[in-house]
Amino acid sequence: MIRSCFVTGTDVAVGKTLVASALVNRLRNHGVHTVGMKPVATGATLEQGRWRQSDLEQLAKEGSFAFPGRVLSPYIFAQESAPQEAAQMAGVQMRIEEMVDAFDVLATWADVIVVDADRDFLDPLGADFDTADLARALDLPVILVVGITSGCIERALLTAQALRARGLELAGWVANIMDADPTQAQQHMDALGQQLQAPCLARIPRLDSPQAAAVAAQFPFDALLAALRR
Ligand SMILES: Nc1ncnc2c1ncn2[C@@H]1O[C@H](COP(=O)(O)OP(=O)(O)OP(=O)(O)O)[C@@H](O)[C@H]1O
Ligand SMILES: [Mg+2]
Repeated sequence: MIRSCFVTGTDVAVGKTLVASALVNRLRNHGVHTVGMKPVATGATLEQGRWRQSDLEQLAKEGSFAFPGRVLSPYIFAQESAPQEAAQMAGVQMRIEEMVDAFDVLATWADVIVVDADRDFLDPLGADFDTADLARALDLPVILVVGITSGCIERALLTAQALRARGLELAGWVANIMDADPTQAQQHMDALGQQLQAPCLARIPRLDSPQAAAVAAQFPFDALLAALRR
């Protein structure tokens, strides 16, 4: 049995959605019924009565089943900003129960749900809960995407410390190398490998065509399975 998981990152734009979509792709192609979910989607546009949001579309494209956007994301907002700000602008008070219910609906279809968190790990979502509370409420192990940059060691260690302090399991981490100098990137990854106390599930180089399938190919399946095995 493979567990669902919660993908977070050391920063915005570090490749969370790309990695979440790649995980959906990798598991689906292995015969596991998998879907990607995004509890809050910001920066959406309304086109002919239908909300469109790029992260949601990337995730939806890879899933084993097709669901309307509203099912994959209970909270879709037009404003491109931190989730709580976008909700306030729309006059909506987000509720953790709504997100858990949406997850449970997807869980009646899919064996594995990959949850793509918006923004930073400790971002507030509602008046009394943040992203970490959501991962706890869903009882999911966390996969941390680390954008390999000069400040990444501190950011990754702080995030790992924060999530463990909140009772969450760091099931593994992913190094997204993007623009880093190769020698420096290697040093950062070695240091993280020693200090994060969780397996590195993949090292993603800069890709000319950053598509889910290309990133999925960077994940050795045995390591992924070991991290997510129940
Ligand atoms: N290894 C890579 N090679 C090339 N492009 C990449 C790589 N990783 C990410 N990107 C690109 O960087 C951008 C940000 O990636 P992505 O949207 O997955 O980040 P994110 O962490 O989900 O961002 P956000 O915090 O805005 O949700 C995208 O355009 C993506 O295609
Ligand atoms: Mg994203």
